[in-house]
Amino acid sequence: GLATAATLGRRPPVTGAELRSAVPLPPAFEVPLPLPAVLKPVAPGRYEITQRVADVEILPGVRTPMWTYGGTFPGPTIESRRGQAITVTHRNELPVPTVVHLHGGRTPAESDGYPTDLVLPAGWSGGHGHAMPDPRAVQSRVTRTYTFPLDQRPAMLWYHDHRMDFTAPAIWRGLAGLHFVRDDAEEALGLPSGPRELPLMITDRAFAADGSLDYPSLDATLRERPGVRESFLGGVLGDVILVNGAPWPIHEADAARYRLRILNGSNARHYELEAVTDDGRRLPLVQVGADQGLLAAPVTHASLPIGPAERYDVVVDFASVPVGGRVRLLNRLGTGRTAEVMAFRIARPARDDSRVPAVLSQDLPSWDSPARVREFSFRAGPMPGGHGWLIDGRPFDPSRTDVTVGLGDVEVWRLVADVHHPIHLHLAGFRVLSRGGRPPLPHDAGLKDTVSLRPGEAAEIITRFDGYRGRYLFHCHNAEHEDMGMMANLEVR
Ligand code: C2O
Ligand code: CU
Repeated sequence: GLATAATLGRRPPVTGAELRSAVPLPPAFEVPLPLPAVLKPVAPGRYEITQRVADVEILPGVRTPMWTYGGTFPGPTIESRRGQAITVTHRNELPVPTVVHLHGGRTPAESDGYPTDLVLPAGWSGGHGHAMPDPRAVQSRVTRTYTFPLDQRPAMLWYHDHRMDFTAPAIWRGLAGLHFVRDDAEEALGLPSGPRELPLMITDRAFAADGSLDYPSLDATLRERPGVRESFLGGVLGDVILVNGAPWPIHEADAARYRLRILNGSNARHYELEAVTDDGRRLPLVQVGADQGLLAAPVTHASLPIGPAERYDVVVDFASVPVGGRVRLLNRLGTGRTAEVMAFRIARPARDDSRVPAVLSQDLPSWDSPARVREFSFRAGPMPGGHGWLIDGRPFDPSRTDVTVGLGDVEVWRLVADVHHPIHLHLAGFRVLSRGGRPPLPHDAGLKDTVSLRPGEAAEIITRFDGYRGRYLFHCHNAEHEDMGMMANLEVR
């Protein structure tokens, strides 16, 4: 956004700069993998979350003050059933305004977390140098109740902060949690379940000497650090890889199939994941689902690239690993410690009744005969006060409608990138039609809500805008790019 773009430099780097932690880091594969607690409803279908500052133990023995949903990082997991509406009431006890967005949710516009629909903290006066958005566009409260119809395919969604200009630091400080939508048909497939279904939220972070999270633009009192942000135009990377909020964790597993529900919740880091045994064998990653739920049929990968905000639903079979052995989840795009993510220690032989059916779903939408074809460019460029990230040459402006689509219309969008941009569309899941003029890649299968464009690449997506009318967004999910302007308004009429 405009407020932060004022401090940007002139020459955007292609990739983000990596922060160095100033505390001793634990060895890899010693901290147990935490599983986020499942949130209990206060009444059937009604949830409450208090956003507050809490000290969280991320690194062993180190207290890290974080901005949390309910006191933990990740926030509590919400478990929902398809078509059963829920409400979530958020109370803001943080020192800053917030906005909650359910990423991947088919949500009415008034509950979609528009970047100026703020949940104000009690007593907020607009201090700390934060620019307040146009008051005419703001509906603000100390608590806010979001309604989610969840009339959509089963999938792992996630909820996170979405405030204009400040999404990246808010997510970095901890405002992210998982949300599952499930249904009977998916459960009847026999995929690994119970303790053999693991959510894995992968994020990178960096820690200052006092144990707090380091973030380049804001100091501990939320003041801008002049000149620092310009070297992070490409995005902020940390040198510590967390899974579910634990550094390079390890999980004791059975010698059986596991279903891994993977989210790249990082601000800017891309990963290419592979599962490698102690003797150097790569275990196949059998993808059963994408951002928006099950594939039609499984797709097997040796390694799986994952950009910010993307999710993959993957089955890995540990049956061939000797008891006592390890399987490491590695990142082929990392160097040194960022090349390691987590490990599984195969603790015991086990019986396995799970299966991966050859047909996973038959309700995958595909569309043809688009009413319109549009093209959008995602590029760095000049904006008031310096350089930013632009869509079709313009930075985000909440008072402008960039695209109007008709409810129920099928459209093809051609997305053109200068550098890596994971492009996310609210409301509507889409299929990837092509990449670089070629057929989509194996990991583009299924219904997506985020497509990770590679440098210089154009991709075509097709979708149908159905569900709700109103104002939605599309944007780059490199969270720093998003804050620096790469977001646009989509009006469904
Ligand atoms: Cu994950 Cu517009 O957000
Ligand atoms: Cu981007």
